[in-house]
Amino acid sequence: MNSFHPISKILMGPGPSDVPVRILEAMARPTIGHLDPQFIDLMDEIKALLRYAFQTEYTLTFPVSAPGSAGMETCFVNLVEPGDSVIVCVNGVFGTRMVENVTRAGGKAIVVNDEWGQPVDPQKVEEVLHTHPKAKTLAFVHAETSTGVLSDAKTLCALAQAHGCLTIVDAVTSLGGVPVKVDEWGVDAIYSGTQKCLSVPPGLSPISFGPRAIAVLEARKTPVQSWFLDLSLVMNYWQGARSNSERQHRDSAEEKSARSNSERQHRDSATKNPARSYHHTAPINAMYALHEGLLMLREEGLDAAFARHQTCHEHLRDGLEALGFSFLVDKAYRLPQLNTVCIPTGVSDEAAIRKALLEKHNLEIGAGLGALAGKAWRIGLMGASASRGNVDKCLGALKEELG
Ligand SMILES: Cc1ncc(COP(=O)(O)O)c(C=O)c1O
Repeated sequence: MNSFHPISKILMGPGPSDVPVRILEAMARPTIGHLDPQFIDLMDEIKALLRYAFQTEYTLTFPVSAPGSAGMETCFVNLVEPGDSVIVCVNGVFGTRMVENVTRAGGKAIVVNDEWGQPVDPQKVEEVLHTHPKAKTLAFVHAETSTGVLSDAKTLCALAQAHGCLTIVDAVTSLGGVPVKVDEWGVDAIYSGTQKCLSVPPGLSPISFGPRAIAVLEARKTPVQSWFLDLSLVMNYWQGARSNSERQHRDSAEEKSARSNSERQHRDSATKNPARSYHHTAPINAMYALHEGLLMLREEGLDAAFARHQTCHEHLRDGLEALGFSFLVDKAYRLPQLNTVCIPTGVSDEAAIRKALLEKHNLEIGAGLGALAGKAWRIGLMGASASRGNVDKCLGALKEELG
């Protein structure tokens, strides 16, 4: 056996997307300790950059050390207790996974179904909110990767708030590709992934929890069933917590009214910069990559990144339509970063075409998922993959292979 040297490919599937060399180089820097002061500073920068990407001031914003599915589980295991009712919108594969998460956390899922290829219907959601006044949470997928549909997160969050429900939002495919406005929309808990529009290798899941979600977490009657994803524990690493001895020191000190200046200073600095304690060994080099990817997003600017995704989508759409493809999703709800096209009737072996694209053109596109397997292709324009050059290569390769 020898070292592994994969052939470089153009990644135009549903993720992972192309990873810029700058990010790969960041990953190759020396590994340092997960409690090294330099690493703690990097963690703080990652949190600040994620707040920029999510457009939020929520302080509990950080990457879970595992892929997007772990971000999903983090939201459900922390916010759902046995017996809780959760309204889950299902319009594709990832909505069905949310249902599974609710059930496994001991909750009762009230499912609002929409056809695959359609966005979540706010009217249906409103009716269910009326008929289930005890529902605690509304969960939905902002950008359904299995179909390429964008749902109206702003309206859905407003409905949930009007009915006193928390929101859990899947932004795995939306973050960095289309606006995700956590504060403006009043999202309570949100999760994403690194391997889509952030163009960072897979393996981390940025999350953000607002004050209403934290209050629910703090009021839990039962312990979170997952030790690894229990936010009350992970927080001690990402935000810091007073150690027991510090707490005792402070509490007993507070009982005494006499206090020296130095004691007071010690207390103040402990509050501002609380000690981080070991929870798990963070994937250090993956964090370097996320930091670099987020820096690149901030340098480009959110609006410019969204505009780039949209322009590339329009260029791809025009070329695909000229080749005779039709889109699964209505124009009004199409995700620029994930283009789901119906496979033309003349194509008898769609897998053979994808294989030829991969082997002859070094270009990956995605197969249909779930109910759309064999019927659709998913062409991703995520993060660095959203370039005019990639669109032209993809159109050229498809033209050649379709004959
Ligand atoms: C919308 C959505 N949610 C969740 C996930 C799960 O993320 P991961 O595969 O990183 O675990 C994905 C992955 O494609 C996704 O597209």
